[in-house]
Amino acid sequence: MDDSEPTEPGRLSRRQFAKAAVAIGGASALSACMGRNGEPDVSNGPDDLSTLPARQHAWNEFLPTDDHGNDVAPRHRVLLLLNYASDGTPSDGDRKTVESAFESLERAYERGNDGLLFTVGYSPSYFERFDADLPESVDLQQPKALAPFEDPELDQQDAVVHLASDHASVVLAAEEALLGEKSEVNGVEMDADLTGVFEKADRRTGFVGSGLPAENQDAEGIPDDEPVSEDSPLFMGFKSGFKKNQASEDRVTIQDGPFADGTTHQLSKIQLKLEQWYEQDSRSQRVSKMFCPVHAEEDLVEGVGENLGDSAKMSEKGCPAHTEDHARTKGMVGHSQKSARARDDDDSPLMIRRDFDSTDGGQAGLHFVSVQRTISDFVDTREAMNGEDVAEKSAVGQKNNNGILQYMEVLRRGNFLLPPRKHRSLPKPNP
Ligand code: HEM
Repeated sequence: MDDSEPTEPGRLSRRQFAKAAVAIGGASALSACMGRNGEPDVSNGPDDLSTLPARQHAWNEFLPTDDHGNDVAPRHRVLLLLNYASDGTPSDGDRKTVESAFESLERAYERGNDGLLFTVGYSPSYFERFDADLPESVDLQQPKALAPFEDPELDQQDAVVHLASDHASVVLAAEEALLGEKSEVNGVEMDADLTGVFEKADRRTGFVGSGLPAENQDAEGIPDDEPVSEDSPLFMGFKSGFKKNQASEDRVTIQDGPFADGTTHQLSKIQLKLEQWYEQDSRSQRVSKMFCPVHAEEDLVEGVGENLGDSAKMSEKGCPAHTEDHARTKGMVGHSQKSARARDDDDSPLMIRRDFDSTDGGQAGLHFVSVQRTISDFVDTREAMNGEDVAEKSAVGQKNNNGILQYMEVLRRGNFLLPPRKHRSLPKPNP
């Protein structure tokens, strides 16, 4: 039977069901997902966990690459926002329980897109529980609005767990296991879970990769005529995450102090409004606004942009340096063009983007997850992307024709520290 064929009249097709399962969550979604698709054949992790990297954010070496050497993001995601269940500072007992739960997951699933990748981060509010301050080598700040045109709710939960896999059933099972609803995963007994130590405050889900946005485009914010192509990894119709437009993992890693080998984790919940994008803007306008007006004029982007290889061709085409000039002469600037003004002296972006699309609440959105050495690196990049300087000096609006700002609204922002693996469980500020 074809995957897209309904099983019975009025019932969800298999494919529709599988795609909805992560968003729905829970034991019934998991069992139905496995029952219908069969349990994926996923290897267990190593017995000796000391063979795993010191960095939680060391994902790239465990991901496949495409024909151009770009890292291919894991397709299914869950973000769990958690609060420490007790008042005051965490006990050593709780610390052990949490570490034991994470180690069980690492034994259950090999690290990688075919198994499981996960990180756990802690907010500034979490660290405020302690008398001691974080060391100077860590730049973590409370989240705040980063543009005059946004008014986000602030995520001040204690912790965030990011689960990622190419298998929907793996992220679901890992989530269930952490929340104490499943005592065994992939044939491995959970030695502990997070219940009693953490309480779930929020759950966000999503997907990224060719085919998934097209299958999930029946959502608020996307026109009814299904404009998202099968090839597109994201709702907006273009590929992202080219190798040369991402920082390296070394570039984003904290260098010194007790949190060396850690990084910072920024999380934004973004609502997408793609009616005008697909119904009024031409293909040429979309290419100009996403990449750069030069890309539209020289017809540099075919389809979703696979032809660009391993680079969105920003500095190669002089786009960032011509941002103001393009605003004046062409009345439009590109999202990547503006954002690439925030690169460092070696022409490297400051962050790695690990974002994904979402239909949480039936609304098209994007959970923007990025890792960077300091939260200031994120703030600087977001400032470059805001392009307020450009709007002041040209006919480009605060949001209109100013990259993709018009099509997105930041609803929530949160900042977290991703400690190195050895301090990932309820860390003290001075471990
Ligand atoms: C709303 C959804 C968004 C979409 C669909 C999107 C898409 C893209 C695309 C297609 C590129 C071009 C090339 C590449 O990724 O390799 C890009 C570049 C980039 N975007 Fe976004 N983006 C979004 C939001 C954001 C946000 C919220 C930020 C936060 C600051 C951001 C930061 C960047 C950066 C830093 C680059 C690379 C710049 C460089 O090359 O130096 N993007 N984005």
